[in-house]
Amino acid sequence: MTILVTGAAGFIGSNFVLNWFDQSQEVVVSLDLLTYAGNLKNLDSIKDSPFHHFVQGDIRNRSLLNLILKKYQPRAVFHFAAESHVDRSIHDASHFVDTNIVGTFSLLEEVRCYFNDLDIEHQKIFRLIHISTDEVYGSLEPYEPKFIEDSQYKPNSPYSASKAASDHLMRAWHGTYNLPIITTHCSNNYGPYQFPEKLIPLMILHALSEKSLPIYGDGQHTRDWLYVKDHVSALRCILEKGIVGEIYNIGGGNEKTNLEVVTKLCEILDELRPRASKKSYRSLVTFIKDRPFHDKRYAINSAKLEKTLGWKPEELFETGLRKTVTWFLENPEWLDHILSSEYQNWTNQHYS
Ligand SMILES: NC(=O)c1ccc[n+]([C@@H]2O[C@H](COP(=O)([O-])OP(=O)(O)OC[C@H]3O[C@@H](n4cnc5c(N)ncnc54)[C@H](O)[C@@H]3O)[C@@H](O)[C@H]2O)c1
Repeated sequence: MTILVTGAAGFIGSNFVLNWFDQSQEVVVSLDLLTYAGNLKNLDSIKDSPFHHFVQGDIRNRSLLNLILKKYQPRAVFHFAAESHVDRSIHDASHFVDTNIVGTFSLLEEVRCYFNDLDIEHQKIFRLIHISTDEVYGSLEPYEPKFIEDSQYKPNSPYSASKAASDHLMRAWHGTYNLPIITTHCSNNYGPYQFPEKLIPLMILHALSEKSLPIYGDGQHTRDWLYVKDHVSALRCILEKGIVGEIYNIGGGNEKTNLEVVTKLCEILDELRPRASKKSYRSLVTFIKDRPFHDKRYAINSAKLEKTLGWKPEELFETGLRKTVTWFLENPEWLDHILSSEYQNWTNQHYS
C-alpha cells in the first residue's frame, strides 16, 4: 500500500511523513515543488529508505500527477501543498491563487480520473484528505464561541481566501463526483522544521541573533496553538476513522496572545541559552505597525473530532514550546542552511 503526500518537504508535510515512517512500513510518495518553503533536508533521515520516493514537481502539472497516481496507486492522498504565509499573500497574491486554487483544481481532476479507474474494492478504501486552515472562518471577537465545522466562511486575507476557495472545490468534487474527500481545519501549528517566517521560529532566530522581536500592533492577537505532532496524529486518526464528506476541526486548546507566546519563549531561552549581557530576551520585544485587516482571534472547537473519532491533543503549550525551542537550539545547521546564500540564491533563481 502507498500514500501520496503533496507539500511533503514543508513544515507540516515533513513532520507528517517522518511520523508515518516511525509508525508504519507503508510506501510514501512525497511530491513537492521545493519552493522557498520546501526543504529536502527535512526528509534527510529517510532519504535512503526504499519505502520513500521523492518527486520534485508542481501540483499544477497534471501530466505529472497523472503519472504519479498511475505508477504508485496510492490508497490515500494527503494534500498539504500550498502557499501558506499571510504576509506574503498580502504582498503578492498571485502564487496563492495559482497554487492553492488552480493547483488544488488540478489535483482534484487527476484524482477523479484515477479514482474512476479503480476497482470497487480500492474505491472503498481510497481517501483524499485536504488540509485547510481555521483562517477560512475569519476573525472572532473575544466573547464569541470558538469556530465549529459549520461556522460561516469569512476569509480576510488573500491566503485564507485562496484556502477557502480550495475547500469549496473539495466540497463540490465530493458532492458532484462522489470523490471520497475529508477536509480538515487546523489552528496555528508550531514545532520542528517550521520555516523561520512564522511567529515562533522567527522569534527564536531573531533572539539568537540579538535582533529585535517584532510583534504586530499591541500583541493582543490571539491564536490557538497546536503542536505539529498532535496535528499529525489527528490526520492519521481521520484517515483511519473519519467519515467521507465530513469536515473536522483540529485545535490544540491553547489560546494565547502573540505577546504571551513571545514572553514564554523568551523565558525558555533565558533559561536554555542565556544572553551574554544577562538581560532577558524580553528586552528585545518591539511593537510594530499592524498589518491590514489583521484577524484578532482564532479559536477552534475540536469537540467533533474528539467525541466522534476519539482524538485529543497530548501536548501542553508550555511543553510543546520547550521542545520546539530545544529542537531549534540543537539543530543550528538546519537554520544555517536556510539562511545560507546558497539556499537563498537557489530560491531567488527558481522562485522569484
Ligand atoms: N502552518 C500552520 O500553522 C498551518 C495552519 C493551518 C493550516 N495549514 C495548512 O497546512 C498545509 C501545510 O502548511 P505548512 O505550514 O507545512 O506550509 P509550508 O509553507 O511550510 O509548506 C508548503 C509546502 O508546499 C510546497 N509547495 C508549494 N507550492 C507547491 C506546488 N505548486 N506544487 C507542489 N508543492 C508545492 C512547498 O515547497 C512546501 O514544501 C498548508 O496547506 C496550509 O495552508 C498550516
